[in-house]
Amino acid sequence: MAKSKGGKTLTLTTLALAKGRTAKATIQLLSKANINFPDFHEKTRKLIFYDATNKIKMLFVKAVDVPTYVTTGAADIGIVGKDNILESKADVYEMLDLNIGKCQFVIASKTLSSLRDMRHLTVASKYTNVAEQYFAQKNISIQTIKLNGSVELAPLIGMADVILDIVETGTTLKENGLKPLKIIEDISTRLIVNQASFATKTRQIQTIIEQLQIALED
Ligand code: PRP
Repeated sequence: MAKSKGGKTLTLTTLALAKGRTAKATIQLLSKANINFPDFHEKTRKLIFYDATNKIKMLFVKAVDVPTYVTTGAADIGIVGKDNILESKADVYEMLDLNIGKCQFVIASKTLSSLRDMRHLTVASKYTNVAEQYFAQKNISIQTIKLNGSVELAPLIGMADVILDIVETGTTLKENGLKPLKIIEDISTRLIVNQASFATKTRQIQTIIEQLQIALED
């Protein structure tokens, strides 16, 4: 897609950016990388923004949907947590770790103290694909229960043996009497790229990545 400005035709790069807890820090990092969205503010209800140079169109979308925008080509690049990338099984290039929203994927339980000798478990999670993949590697058969939040409740009411969830400070586990059994992955916000876009808009995408790399090194 192209947008005309001052007689010049510019190739637009579309960025899908995750709403939610990492959005503010991501916008700040983009700004440090000289990528500014003048109309953006924290409480905005707008969904589409253009950067000050009119070269980048930003779609402000739910984190869980960012990989979908990128795999379908609706966005050339996406900025989203590794948790959502893994869960989506998106076939995209992961190009950069933005070091924002650092946390970990953790298995936790109320009653179990180890996963050793386990043959079958009921696992509650927002990330059932990640759970299936992880426990398959461990040769533990599982039944998954998909929950969209407050996952820590499931072991407390006997709904699940364990949860797989993101843990940042550990406060939610602690306040609900759950123990971490296994850390399975480090999570943070990543920049992902649509494979076809990387071939057709290489220079534009490389420029954005380089600007972000310089901002991250500061
Ligand atoms: C996330 C996650 C944990 C919590 C971990 O939930 O699912 O519940 O944060 O953070 P902590 O280790 O710092 O306590 P979120 O706040 O997104 O709410 P949710 O339970 O509704 O998903």
